[in-house]
Amino acid sequence: MLKKNKTLGEFIIENQSSFQYSSGELSKLINALRLAAKVVNHEVNKAGLVDILGDAGDTNIQGESQQKLDVLANEKFIQTLKNREIVCGIASEEEDDFITINSNDENHQNKYVVLIDPLDGSSNIDVNVSVGTIFSIYRRVTPVGTPVEMKDFLQKGSEQVAAGYIVYGTSTMLVYSTGDGVNGFTLNPALGTFYLSHPNMQFPEEGKIYSVNEGNYVHFLQGVKDYIKYCQKEEGDRPYTSRYIGSLVSDFHRNMIKGGIYMYPKSSIAENGKLRLLYECNPMAYLAEQANGIASDGFGRILDIEPTELHQRVPFFCGSRKMVEKLHEFMAKNA
Ligand code: AHG
Ligand code: MN
Ligand code: MN
Ligand code: MN
Repeated sequence: MLKKNKTLGEFIIENQSSFQYSSGELSKLINALRLAAKVVNHEVNKAGLVDILGDAGDTNIQGESQQKLDVLANEKFIQTLKNREIVCGIASEEEDDFITINSNDENHQNKYVVLIDPLDGSSNIDVNVSVGTIFSIYRRVTPVGTPVEMKDFLQKGSEQVAAGYIVYGTSTMLVYSTGDGVNGFTLNPALGTFYLSHPNMQFPEEGKIYSVNEGNYVHFLQGVKDYIKYCQKEEGDRPYTSRYIGSLVSDFHRNMIKGGIYMYPKSSIAENGKLRLLYECNPMAYLAEQANGIASDGFGRILDIEPTELHQRVPFFCGSRKMVEKLHEFMAKNA
């Protein structure tokens, strides 16, 4: 039986006045993302039936081979945002440069820029494992009525006004925050409606799950190696459980619900790790902090990093407060 939950549409309207800047523009933008999420969800769900699995034959600016669904999800999100004339600029993992939106309103009155990882967990697409979308929203710093500039996108994560993700999993969920806690909405596919299913999501203070690509262990810094050994040690409530999907959104989502730590450290073969500061780490860090968790690069707060380029990578550690604090102890000891 369906619980009598609020719909996302109702929730957005009810919470509009609590936004820091309540002109209604941010609400419209979240609505546009909600629509794009449904479109991409529809595509992801039929991926095995139509010819959208596999490699698209191109490489993105990160040097990764693009999957057909990476390209499709990118197109759908950008098109939906463009059609609704609701943002002044978009940056995406799959685009070399940021996109300037010429709103129909000749004066370019839109204030917000969106940064997206349209399809997170690409390597899971072909094997029917959960993938996601990540989004991050900022107010532009350049004046409205002018084309956006790089500095509108290279803002510190602490300047985000909203961030969220969609996880295309056993259910499709949209999880987001506008700075007043984190709320999760589950899609009822029959109705095409998101319902508030996970109000006020919080990382448990302590957790028992660690998530890291342990295949890279030999390349990690000593602090990370020591922390992993700590997780595996038989003592107290340890050893912890190891869970790694290889899709940041899904790993984060599980850890936020169950308690855990996600790690993508730098290594001797990837000097800044793999994850992108602007499309992956900042939005997830914003959500983590809103949900009583911590997100760091192993030493300091992710949200305080001053970005220098669009596709910048950064080491990423995120999750339950006590687990990340323990990791920090090991990192500091070996610094
Ligand atoms: P994307 O599919 O958007 O390029 O991101 C992939 C990321 C992230 O989702 C995941 O946690 C990580 O890459 C997995 O990397 P490894 O395969 O190196 O573990
Ligand atoms: Mn990618
Ligand atoms: Mn990603
Ligand atoms: Mn991606």
